[in-house]
Amino acid sequence: MCSNIERVEHQETCKVCGLVPLAPRLKGATHVVAESPAMQALLRRAARFAATEAPIAVLGETGTGKEVVARILHLNSARAKRPFVAVNVAALPAELLESELFGHGKGAFTGASSARRGLFEAADGGTLFLDEIGEMPLPLQAKLLRALEQGEIRRVGESTPFSVDVRILSATHRDLAARVREGLFREDVYYRLKVLTLEVPPLRERREDILPLARHFLADEPGPRRDFSSAAAARLSRYAWPGNVRELQNAVRHGAALAVGPKVEPGDLPLELDRAALRPPRSASPEALRPLAEVERAYIRQVVEACGGSPSEAARVLGIARNTLWRKLQDP
Ligand SMILES: Nc1ncnc2c1ncn2[C@@H]1O[C@H](COP(=O)(O)OP(=O)(O)OP(=O)(O)O)[C@@H](O)[C@H]1O
Ligand SMILES: [Mg+2]
Repeated sequence: MCSNIERVEHQETCKVCGLVPLAPRLKGATHVVAESPAMQALLRRAARFAATEAPIAVLGETGTGKEVVARILHLNSARAKRPFVAVNVAALPAELLESELFGHGKGAFTGASSARRGLFEAADGGTLFLDEIGEMPLPLQAKLLRALEQGEIRRVGESTPFSVDVRILSATHRDLAARVREGLFREDVYYRLKVLTLEVPPLRERREDILPLARHFLADEPGPRRDFSSAAAARLSRYAWPGNVRELQNAVRHGAALAVGPKVEPGDLPLELDRAALRPPRSASPEALRPLAEVERAYIRQVVEACGGSPSEAARVLGIARNTLWRKLQDP
């Protein structure tokens, strides 16, 4: 959360954005780390949106925290005590997705020996989160439109529609407008879903969140309590994080698994972060520039890796003595 939690009328809320933090029993994050002005602004917006009944589209690159935002929206809505049902639209083939979402009647297809309710019904009174909505097949979008416009659904193999009371949240890392232009997404559904939109910024545009998130994830790791050495923290802060928060979470796991002492050192972090040091910075801003020793170390690691992990072979390729190679790798 924005680390400003206060208790009002037996409920914890954040003083900055007014949101109720994620409940610890929820899978994944127990609270939302949001130290950056960009994320705090997003959560303030989310707090206002949560109070409405309108559909909300959560947009943003992969791994930015779209599902976390969707959960926060539900938890801060009038539907908080009712179910939050999440479905990944991209994970199921079209026919299965239809019966999964809308349910099916008895004998609707081979193997449908009894009627089964779908996720719309499971979410009745609560929130249905349609993740990866951009992948929804066109024929199903027509059924979704009916649910959005009339609050009505029809089970596969049944003819009578019935009402459900579901608030729809959706998320996608895709450019939905472009999918509409390409004819892959219905324009009417598009406008219905994005009545309100929240765009989760990529991690590289909210660098203030990197270390607080990294420490938050590190604290969740099993084993002794650790922190990052200053060199490791610098490396985390500088990296571009194309996979956003999820990539950071994995990097922290990697670091925690390899760390031996009380601190996670740069060498414990994934090699990717090291390699990035070799790429010339896109902007010449001073904080994007790397010290020569760091670039050298990254290059040496890469050569060691290219030599099948053999330091002697790497030292030969680099034209330096083996102990020089060790020293250069060890320097903080
Ligand atoms: N602000 C945050 N505070 C704490 N944890 C976070 C935050 N943002 C994301 N996470 C964690 O990072 C991981 C990725 O988040 P999430 O699954 O919400 O991303 P996503 O945008 O839905 O990703 P994808 O596009 O791959 O579906 C999750 O484990 C989540 O708990
Ligand atoms: Mg997701």
